[in-house]
Amino acid sequence: MSDYQFWSLRYKQQASWTIQTRNFIINQITLPPKANILEVGCGSSAVLDEFTELGHITFGLDNDLQILNYSNQHLPKSRLINSDGYFLPFKNNFFDLCFCHYLLLWINDPLKIIKEMSRVSKKSGWICCFAEPDYLSRIDYPSPLDKLGQMQNSSLSTQGVNLSTGRNITNWLKEVSLSNIHWGIFGSHQKVASNNFAADTEWKTIQHDLEKLYPAEEILKYKEIEQNAQNQGIRILFIPTFYAYAQKVD
Ligand SMILES: C[S@@+](CC[C@H](N)C(=O)[O-])C[C@H]1O[C@@H](n2cnc3c(N)ncnc32)[C@H](O)[C@@H]1O
Repeated sequence: MSDYQFWSLRYKQQASWTIQTRNFIINQITLPPKANILEVGCGSSAVLDEFTELGHITFGLDNDLQILNYSNQHLPKSRLINSDGYFLPFKNNFFDLCFCHYLLLWINDPLKIIKEMSRVSKKSGWICCFAEPDYLSRIDYPSPLDKLGQMQNSSLSTQGVNLSTGRNITNWLKEVSLSNIHWGIFGSHQKVASNNFAADTEWKTIQHDLEKLYPAEEILKYKEIEQNAQNQGIRILFIPTFYAYAQKVD
């Protein structure tokens, strides 16, 4: 499996976790039938495709040309643009909805991106941050998997991730003078299952993060502990994931 194949599957998995909240938000805001919609940091368009399928006019922007090329091989349904979210190549007041999903955690200056999202949104248009994790408040169980959680956090931090993004997004929407702000945290209902696909992909993601900082033997040790906890049905991994949405009024 190529890296892009793996990430595309991972993004689909993340999109499936967050779909209920997205549906909830879409029911709270009003979109015209053929809305202009932009996703900043669209990756393989796992979320954006949902809006295309609803008949909206969709644009996906990402600064990674390779992932856009990968999406292009798979019959893209949106207009895909290779550009930087800090400088959106769109005129003011164009989009009915401008959103991101697992983007801001990677961004050094999220306010600048949210300001751009606001600039290109129409008056009364919506800016939605559909999912941003807060790794600093994670729960890993049983011990010593809490140590594994700290190791993944260290690696993510080294890769440039802001570990407390989730708790900040509401404040950022306020700072760019958006109105009608709502926020929340995903509920986390889980069915205990051993060796399921979700747990496997989750481990591959953790392993991908750890490989950069820790020796293979240490990772292997945690893999065994993790698998043991999975098999017993007692593994808990909970990373609070926030959403927030707001309206451009002026
Ligand atoms: C974790 S992925 C999420 C992809 C997609 N939103 C999803 O949830 O399926 C984050 C994406 O943001 C893109 N990205 C990061 N920084 C960016 C920037 N400054 N401008 C545009 N895209 C960016 C990355 O290339 C990557 O595809």
